[in-house]
Amino acid sequence: MLIARSIAELRQHLAPSQRPAFVPTMGNLHAGHIKLIERARPQGDLTVASIFVNRLQFLPHEDFDSYPRTWEADCAKLEAAGCDVVFAPRETDLYPQPQTVKVQADPSLGDILEGEFRPGFFTGVSTVVMKLFSSVFSGKAHGVAVFGKKDYQQLMVIRQMVAQFALPIEVIGVDTCRAEDGLALSSRNGYLSERERAEALQLSLALRALGRDALATADALAKHLPALEAKAIDNLRQRGWQPDYLTVRRRHDLQTPQAGDALVVLGAAKLGTTRLIDNFEI
Ligand code: PAF
Repeated sequence: MLIARSIAELRQHLAPSQRPAFVPTMGNLHAGHIKLIERARPQGDLTVASIFVNRLQFLPHEDFDSYPRTWEADCAKLEAAGCDVVFAPRETDLYPQPQTVKVQADPSLGDILEGEFRPGFFTGVSTVVMKLFSSVFSGKAHGVAVFGKKDYQQLMVIRQMVAQFALPIEVIGVDTCRAEDGLALSSRNGYLSERERAEALQLSLALRALGRDALATADALAKHLPALEAKAIDNLRQRGWQPDYLTVRRRHDLQTPQAGDALVVLGAAKLGTTRLIDNFEI
């Protein structure tokens, strides 16, 4: 497995490839990331993963400094999974000057849900992903990029960016990887105490219950949805959580659903100091 520390080095390593398959990550890899690599591998002629903790997508009070950095273990996992190239740029290489030119998601998608509670988050994500895409795919006729559905809204934002900028990249979304009890795998699960880890499952249980309630309303979904969402939020709050949102949306653009739309139920809530997100397509 080759390691590239700069964009120039990466482009050298990728020179023989016509169709790279790319998995962007912030490191601290778990089984969910490895599933993305496994999905990417047969899609391209060379598999590349990036490890870069992107300062632009963290708010000032968030965990940029303490975000887990586990370089040696990450490389061992990537190598075992058959990754060919790891791109781990220094911050000064990806952002040699302050990144003043940014990619802004359409506000109707980027400023709702995660974007409402983490203002600027999707600008940070879109900007770094555009830069990673240009590092990996420039000069290539085709490419494939693989993202987890755990960050469902992120996947929608990236799909929209790729479509609107006509990037020659196929974006693949991969189902969320879960622990045996059903908790969505996340690097931030490592912040949970033993007691919190046992409680953490309640977010996905609340989302499943909300999804069931929503499906049971059939054609009257729009009428009943506000009350169902309020009930789900209140139940979690009573267990000691601080929920940001639990909501049912239509899948493709995350707007309020109408009868007949394909649905996704999404939620974000803080347990102690750890903010967790989860979702289910229903
Ligand atoms: O999902 C992540 O890990 C990050 O948001 C990403 C896509 C690697 C951009 O920093």
